[in-house]
Amino acid sequence: MATVVITGGNRGIGLHLARLYADAGHEVVIGVRRPEAAADAPGEALALDVGDDASVAAFAGSLNGRNVDILINNAGVSGPERQSARDTDFAGFLDTLNINTLGPLRVTQALLPNLRQAGNAKVAIVSSRMGSLASTEPDMVAYRASKAAVNKVAQCLATNLAADGIAIAALHPGWVRTDMGGPSADLAPEESARGLKEVIDGLSLATTGHFWNYDGGFLPW
Ligand SMILES: NC(=O)c1ccc[n+]([C@@H]2O[C@H](COP(=O)([O-])OP(=O)(O)OC[C@H]3O[C@@H](n4cnc5c(N)ncnc54)[C@H](OP(=O)(O)O)[C@@H]3O)[C@@H](O)[C@H]2O)c1
Repeated sequence: MATVVITGGNRGIGLHLARLYADAGHEVVIGVRRPEAAADAPGEALALDVGDDASVAAFAGSLNGRNVDILINNAGVSGPERQSARDTDFAGFLDTLNINTLGPLRVTQALLPNLRQAGNAKVAIVSSRMGSLASTEPDMVAYRASKAAVNKVAQCLATNLAADGIAIAALHPGWVRTDMGGPSADLAPEESARGLKEVIDGLSLATTGHFWNYDGGFLPW
């Protein structure tokens, strides 16, 4: 039985990942902004705002001494209304970077002792193909930039943490029917979560430092 920590596990892809890991018999901890509103989610719900240093420190404090075998940095936002290349809400852009880019780094750093003590731990970062530098689509600048930047964070973490036996993956979940993806998206969240879990389950130091699609293929950074 592994201990699996999932940020933003109260709805969307994170909730379905939490259900899958709980159903597979693992101990699940979800980090959520409002634990009192996460009664339907499986596992233990702890307060966490990934954009806030003090909240992340308190979250890590409540996990003090516990192994974390798998950390899934899933929490994310799509960014402000105005985020075109010609008209940008800069405060909203900064907020997007803080949550989508700094959030996974903040949480991973805070849980490093837990990941190290688990041995052969894994860290997944739910990114997006919209952040791939190979894509030249021009909309949603803040979101795309935040995911491009978190991909670089993932790559740097992979190189740095290999010595600690910790494997890292950046993951694209597909276009998924959640509040963020909307009702016309390609994939049910269950299907995306199943694919992501398979990739994470197969992750090792031999495959650390890649950008994966939910179907197990590699994507260009
Ligand atoms: N859906 C897609 O098509 C798609 C495609 C590519 C990538 N992704 C990525 O997949 C991940 C999950 O997306 P989703 O579609 O499941 O989105 P979602 O349904 O909008 O859920 C987002 C989750 O993130 C949480 N969250 C947001 N800001 C947070 C913060 N500061 N601290 C803690 N939790 C926070 C939300 O919690 P609250 O309930 O408190 O708001 C919610 O649980 C995101 O990183 C997203 O960028 C999604």
